[in-house]
Amino acid sequence: MLIFQKERELGNFSPNEPVIAIKGLNHYFGTGELKKQVLYDIDLEIKAGEVVIMTGPSGSGKTTLLSLMGGLRSAQEGSLKILGQEMLGIAKGKMLKIRRQIGYIFQAHNLLKFLTAKQNVRMSLELHEEFLEQDLDQKATAILESVGLGDRVDYYPHDLSGGQKQRVAIARALVSHPKLVLADEPTAALDKQSGRDVVEIMQKLASPLARLCRSHCQHGGWSFKRLTAQKLLAKNWPFMLD
Ligand SMILES: Nc1ncnc2c1ncn2[C@@H]1O[C@H](COP(=O)(O)OP(=O)(O)OP(=O)(O)O)[C@@H](O)[C@H]1O
Ligand SMILES: [Mg+2]
Repeated sequence: MLIFQKERELGNFSPNEPVIAIKGLNHYFGTGELKKQVLYDIDLEIKAGEVVIMTGPSGSGKTTLLSLMGGLRSAQEGSLKILGQEMLGIAKGKMLKIRRQIGYIFQAHNLLKFLTAKQNVRMSLELHEEFLEQDLDQKATAILESVGLGDRVDYYPHDLSGGQKQRVAIARALVSHPKLVLADEPTAALDKQSGRDVVEIMQKLASPLARLCRSHCQHGGWSFKRLTAQKLLAKNWPFMLD
C-alpha cells in the first residue's frame, strides 16, 4: 500500500494538523456470534508530505484500514480523523465530501467498462465544481499522456492490458489533485515490468508534489515511512517503523 500526500490546496485544513489521525480504532465484521474483530486499537498519524508504505500478510487488515481512511467504510469504534474531520458517526453527505478529496486506487482497477479511458478520468473531474469551467477532455487527455497512454485515450478498459488499466486508474485518482492518495497494492495484479512501470509513474506524478512540499512543509518536507502490519491482529498493535 502506498500513500502519497500533498500540502497544496488544504483549504481550512492546517498543514500542521495530521492528514490522518487515528486513535484507538477498532473494526469488526459480522454480528452476533459471527462478529470478528479485524483491527485492534490502532494509533496512527500521517502528516502532509509523508509517503507511507504499509506491508503485512494477507488477511491482516490492510484493505480494511485503507478503506476506512478513504471514507469508503464507516468507522465503528475509536477515532479516525481525515483532513481534520472526525469520521466516527459522520453524516453521509459530509462523508461524500471527504471522499471527493481523496484519490483512491483500488487493487483491482475498478474502471467503468462502458466508458473509455478518457471518460473514466473525466468522470473524476466532473465530481469537482472547480473544474467544471475548464476543458475536462483536455485535462483528462493530458494526464493520460503523462502516464504514457496518449494513444489509448479512446480505448475501453476491455481493450487495454492490465498495466494500462492500472495506469488509467492512477490517472483517474490523481487528475483532480487530491489532498490524499491511497493506493491498495496497485502493482499486485501486474507482472514485474508492468509493476515497475506503475511505481515509476506514481513516483513521477507524486514528485512535483514532493518538491512543493519540500519548500513549504514545516515538517521538513517529503518524508518516507515504512509501516508493517505484522501486528495488526495483535492487541495494542503498534505501527512499527522499519
Ligand atoms: N466484508 C467482509 N466481511 C467479513 N469479513 C471480512 C470482510 N472484508 C474482510 N474481511 C476479513 O477481515 C480480515 C482482513 O481483511 P483485509 O481485506 O483487510 O486484509 P488484507 O490485509 O487487505 O489482505 P490481502 O493482503 O489479502 O489483501 C480478513 O480475515 C477478511 O477475511
Ligand atoms: Mg487487501
